Amino acid sequence: MTIAGTGSYVPERILTNAELEKLVDTSDEWIRSRTGIRERRIAADNEATSDLGTKAALKAMEQAGVTAEELDLIIVATVTPDTFFPATACYIQRNLGARNAVCFDISAACSGFLFALQTSRHFINTGNRKTVLIVGAEKLSGMVDWKDRNTCVLFGDGAGAAILRRRTEDSNESRVLSTVMGSDGMLTDILSVPGGGSALPTTPENAEERLNTIKMEGREVYKQAVTAMRDACIKAIADAGLTTDDIAMVIPHQANIRIIEAITDRLGIPSERTFINLDKYGNTSAAAIAIALDEANRTGAIKKGDNVLLVAFGAGLTWASAVVQW
Ligand code: UT7
Repeated sequence: MTIAGTGSYVPERILTNAELEKLVDTSDEWIRSRTGIRERRIAADNEATSDLGTKAALKAMEQAGVTAEELDLIIVATVTPDTFFPATACYIQRNLGARNAVCFDISAACSGFLFALQTSRHFINTGNRKTVLIVGAEKLSGMVDWKDRNTCVLFGDGAGAAILRRRTEDSNESRVLSTVMGSDGMLTDILSVPGGGSALPTTPENAEERLNTIKMEGREVYKQAVTAMRDACIKAIADAGLTTDDIAMVIPHQANIRIIEAITDRLGIPSERTFINLDKYGNTSAAAIAIALDEANRTGAIKKGDNVLLVAFGAGLTWASAVVQW
């Protein structure tokens, strides 16, 4: 399978750490030193997740030279769908006019884009689908408790996309060499949105408790993220038949610079071979790797022939990784 094009879109509105200092008891210094985040993007009230995803998709389609009619599968990874149903993938299908596509969403939180990548790989390798659009898109600003300093400083909105196709064997197109994914449902409670679903519907009585916003045990998530992502990196590199020395660039989930450094230190990969944009966007969950991959592609941070390691971690718990020869 090859990645034939990438695209991304972030909303115009920038929310800085200085503005957050006025909302909650925090400081630019605390946010930067504990996370590496300087600012994040916030979608407009009338901008839904599918709107962000559609803009990213159009850029990926343009780069790949693919028309909407050619798409035969659209997978959207998101935890902030436009509606419980239909799937956000169906709204993006409508926006694009992609009449020939089968569309569904994946809920794997921050690992969602890489879950979509691996799912597409199976569809493409079996010959079931030929031209696939995957999108990671989130409007987390609508799911954040803006009174909780433990979480509201971390998240942002945005979308990234990729076009995937079967690779022609003798071509010099990029090639997905390995994909890994995993889950641990024993740890659902350390990062979740507990309310608003069937387990705990929002009622007039509990609305004040903001149970339909993100709750996280930050330190525990941090610990789990480092171990799971390190192991996922080791497996993806081994499955690709490579060693860490062969990896030209790591594109990790953009949650916290300290988590990323802890992983790359353990793997012995220097910081100049790590792609970081969380300072500009914060944690955009399923969109984070998709946006980072597109920026690395368009800025030339990754070059033809480079072995690129993608790795993610999120609620579920879920984790995933992949090695792509660019
Ligand atoms: O997307 C995948 C899932 N998410 C993640 O990967 C996030 C994983 N976790 C983290 O990135 C980090 O745990 C955080 C950035 C969330 C927190 O950093 P930390 O170094 O683990 O801080 P902490 O939770 O241990 O809190 C240290 C102190 C606490 O005060 P006390 O109890 O020591 O007095 C917090 O109340 O920092 C306080 N604190 C803050 N202070 C200023 C927490 N949030 C803030 C804040 N501003 N925004």
